Amino acid sequence: MRKTILLIGLLLSFNTFAAPPQELLKQYEVQAKQEHSAFTGFSAEKGATFFKTERVHSDGKNVSCATCHTADPRNQGKTRANKVIEPMAPIVNPKRFTDAAKVEKWFGRNCKDVLERACTAQEKGDYISYMLSIK
Ligand code: HEC
Repeated sequence: MRKTILLIGLLLSFNTFAAPPQELLKQYEVQAKQEHSAFTGFSAEKGATFFKTERVHSDGKNVSCATCHTADPRNQGKTRANKVIEPMAPIVNPKRFTDAAKVEKWFGRNCKDVLERACTAQEKGDYISYMLSIK
């Protein structure tokens, strides 16, 4: 009995700290439906385009998600200060998209950095779908 309770406790705590990316996608789906009643689902293809599309930042420089994360998310990336960023694709880095707070923090920072606005739930879901589609 005690062991069962311990086991359940353990499973629950895992769930809080490390949920599979699919859980996160479900949360973004709920949000996306609220943002757009016409929401029809996430697209890995749109996520790929979103990831690579460069835009001109108001500081005059071209920037995209791939600027730091590289064009192939299976590769290590680099910050502007030349610090290594571990790969974004869960196939090579299973920790990605398992910590909702971390994901939100970095979407917040990086979307502002690249797009100079927050990302929509649609964009976040497309991005994660793209990363999960990489084999
Ligand atoms: C200026 C460099 C830079 C750019 C540009 C950038 N990122 Fe990042 N990103 C980082 C760094 C640094 C981290 C945190 C280090 C880490 O997680 O390895 C990170 C982490 C993330 C994470 C956390 C994922 C997880 O589960 O660990 C997400 C999501 C993310 N970035 C999305 C984006 C998106 C979307 C874009 C484009 C709109 C983008 N990034 C552009 C540097 C960048």
